[in-house]
Amino acid sequence: MTDVSKRTDHSRISPTAKIAAYWRSLSDIPYSKEIAESVGAKEAAIYLLGDQVVAMGTISPAMFEARYKSINRGLDKCGIGNALELACGLSPRGIEIVANGGTYVGTDLPDIYAESSPIIASIARRAGIPMDRFHLQPANVLDRDQMENAASYFRRDRFAVCNEGLMMYLDPEEKAKMAEIVRVLLLKSGGAWITTDITLGETRKKIASMLGPAGKAIAKSAMKKIADQTGRNITENDFNSKADAVLFYSKLGFDVEEFPMYDDRQTLSTASLMPEKRREELLEILSSAKTWILKPRN
Ligand SMILES: C[S@@+](CC[C@H](N)C(=O)[O-])C[C@H]1O[C@@H](n2cnc3c(N)ncnc32)[C@H](O)[C@@H]1O
Repeated sequence: MTDVSKRTDHSRISPTAKIAAYWRSLSDIPYSKEIAESVGAKEAAIYLLGDQVVAMGTISPAMFEARYKSINRGLDKCGIGNALELACGLSPRGIEIVANGGTYVGTDLPDIYAESSPIIASIARRAGIPMDRFHLQPANVLDRDQMENAASYFRRDRFAVCNEGLMMYLDPEEKAKMAEIVRVLLLKSGGAWITTDITLGETRKKIASMLGPAGKAIAKSAMKKIADQTGRNITENDFNSKADAVLFYSKLGFDVEEFPMYDDRQTLSTASLMPEKRREELLEILSSAKTWILKPRN
């Protein structure tokens, strides 16, 4: 069996962090605009997605806003103020967490860490948050030592692990290895794992049918561009069903629960970018997606 932590091609996934940063910059998520401007996220999104950016602009910003905010709701649901964010890309989450009194450690692969960490750290400093509780560190989620090193910032304090936009790129062996490492960290911390990244073929099919032929064609073309860039086919990495996903993580020692990534009690600032005629139906699409809370069993 190959040692997945030795694979060196994960850095091909890193440019997608700029696409996420661009979609978030159209929302009211604090600091998202400053971050996106500093890294040229719009230009990167146009380079990676081409003309699709315009058509995707009606729903993608809301998807990414809902995804980001749902992780924060997951942290609240678990009552955990400290977070180790994996594959954080250009996320501004740490600034909010520290401003609210928590400790944050954001991690990603070395190349994107080298580009993004000075930018995010300088925005954090300007925001006036206590920098002794704000940390950025390179770490591959498949490398146990790097992950333990990042987690050591929390000392004995309870922390959650969170990530969005990563696991759909990982094959089953990589998903299992990451889960094994996260489980050990959480058993020590007493925390939970909050992620939007358990993607299901059944949900993807439902969303595709709701998008209609034109939307489906746009989604297909964007997926092809992402696959060419990353060398990974995210639909192939989906679990077929919720039952398959729950079984997979249960066998790896987790209790699994989920909640809708969006429900109509939330306000999404980017809902205004949706054509009014289709807004209700597009918001319904968002509520089909789930955010997951995984708790390690002893
Ligand atoms: C779609 S981006 C999401 C970034 C960020 N979470 C967000 O939502 O804006 C995927 C991220 O996964 C990171 N990544 C890919 N493979 C990784 C690995 N093995 N370990 C850590 N990060 C990884 C990439 O560098 C990239 O930042």
